[in-house]
Amino acid sequence: MARLLSTSCSVDMSSSCKLPCHQSYQGSKLFSSSCKLQTSKFPLEKLVLKGNRPERVCMVRATTLPMSQEAKTQPGSGSHQASGGSSKRKRVMVIGGDGYCGWATALHLSNKNYEVAIVDSLVRRLFDHQLGLDSLTPISSIHNRIRRWKSETGKTIQLYIGDICDFEFLADTFESFKPDAVVHFGEQRSAPYSMIDRSRAVFTQNNNVIGTLNVLFAIKEFREDCHLVKLGTMGEYGTPNIDIEEGYITITHNGRTDTLPYPKQASSFYHLSKVHDSNNIAFTCKAWGMRATDLNQGVVYGVRTDETEMHEELCNRLDYDGVFGTALNRFCVQAAVDHPLTVYGKGGQTRGYLDIRDTIQCVELAIANPAQRGEFRVFNQFTEQFSVNELASLVTKAGEKLGLNVETKSVPNPRVEAEEHYYNAKHTKLIELGLKPHLLSDSLLDSLLNFAIQFKDRVDVKQIMPSVSWKKIGAKPKTVAA
Ligand SMILES: NC(=O)c1ccc[n+]([C@@H]2O[C@H](COP(=O)([O-])OP(=O)(O)OC[C@H]3O[C@@H](n4cnc5c(N)ncnc54)[C@H](O)[C@@H]3O)[C@@H](O)[C@H]2O)c1
Repeated sequence: MARLLSTSCSVDMSSSCKLPCHQSYQGSKLFSSSCKLQTSKFPLEKLVLKGNRPERVCMVRATTLPMSQEAKTQPGSGSHQASGGSSKRKRVMVIGGDGYCGWATALHLSNKNYEVAIVDSLVRRLFDHQLGLDSLTPISSIHNRIRRWKSETGKTIQLYIGDICDFEFLADTFESFKPDAVVHFGEQRSAPYSMIDRSRAVFTQNNNVIGTLNVLFAIKEFREDCHLVKLGTMGEYGTPNIDIEEGYITITHNGRTDTLPYPKQASSFYHLSKVHDSNNIAFTCKAWGMRATDLNQGVVYGVRTDETEMHEELCNRLDYDGVFGTALNRFCVQAAVDHPLTVYGKGGQTRGYLDIRDTIQCVELAIANPAQRGEFRVFNQFTEQFSVNELASLVTKAGEKLGLNVETKSVPNPRVEAEEHYYNAKHTKLIELGLKPHLLSDSLLDSLLNFAIQFKDRVDVKQIMPSVSWKKIGAKPKTVAA
């Protein structure tokens, strides 16, 4: 059994520490790498080696500035009334805050005067290294991102680098930051990644289910009044031949009526991890009186938000490859590099979509209007439904206006899914809370296409076609680029 390297260090910006990180799951080694972290005036404070635990983490607690140097800001929407009557800023922990949705959200909440801490293992960056992928946009290191945010706005975001599957690390972050709300984006979020091979399937379920379970225990142990805002996915519901409700459905069966969790029909090991998360959260709301909101998010598109626009070092990631890229973002990049739009099978697959500016709005609304103690609240977080064919035709029209010659090609569907089906999902609860949607307009498509054109020299066209097959997944590790 390999040993766990557990390191806790305060880091700043000028020297560097090199830490071996190993992660191994059920005997098969998934990762073996080393991660390099930029540090400066604070040396490594302690280095703890432990013998009898599953080998797993590279754990570094880091903050870019001491808390005492934090900028003084006026109370905004991030302020709330403490029970003693004094006004203090709401403290929000953003788990997965270095990722696509998490980074945009962390900046937005910080801008809105919430006190924000990012918790991230940086494993998403490691996936790119493993598979030979890269974001369309160049992204800065998390340390440089946070330092740039401070210099642009005067606001501090605290940073804890580590794996939430390691409960000691997570407990430390809870005791140190004392969150009023936790927004949990920190999961392996690609369905194709979870279907590459056995080790990725096991990693995905382990990472997501255990990570979420640890968050639940951390809240119970250290911050029992804390509101959990958890990112789920509309994919948990599958594509039933009836309307999809928001979390619950009232059923009359043999003359008796009850309101029950809406049936889930997940279609990948990733989606199944989300279903299990939802069940664990629902159970702890009932058993422990947790307060939780499950945001069943649709497919997110777009890249720009007010905050990421402030400086190029704040730029968000944009994935276009066959493993992490999502439909509309992928189509815009394909159009920009003259690659046919890759419609899987018949293209009738219909899903809910939303602009990344609405992701951050929805999360803010959920935090500002917390669930009650014991309540497991479910919101369907998307603004419009499209079939893949509809998206392809919208991108074709928008591309033509920009002088691009956009073609569409049907490619064999690597997934096991219905290609023509009924789809009508409710999504009214966030609107009732005040969501003002940014609907997919010509101007947004123009801007996303122009953005893709701006960075088209960074596109690796070999990464565009789907390469992970739902049917061909096997136990043997696939080590080549996916
Ligand atoms: N992007 C979408 O279109 C979309 C759609 C529906 C739902 N979601 C959900 O939203 C959430 C965020 O998605 P995203 O697109 O921003 O993903 P992402 O991969 O860009 O970001 C996830 C972040 O979590 C971190 N992370 C993963 N496991 C961790 C762990 N064990 N400990 C600490 N950090 C960890 C990663 O390093 C990464 O920075 C996910 O839960 C995803 O399932 C995303």
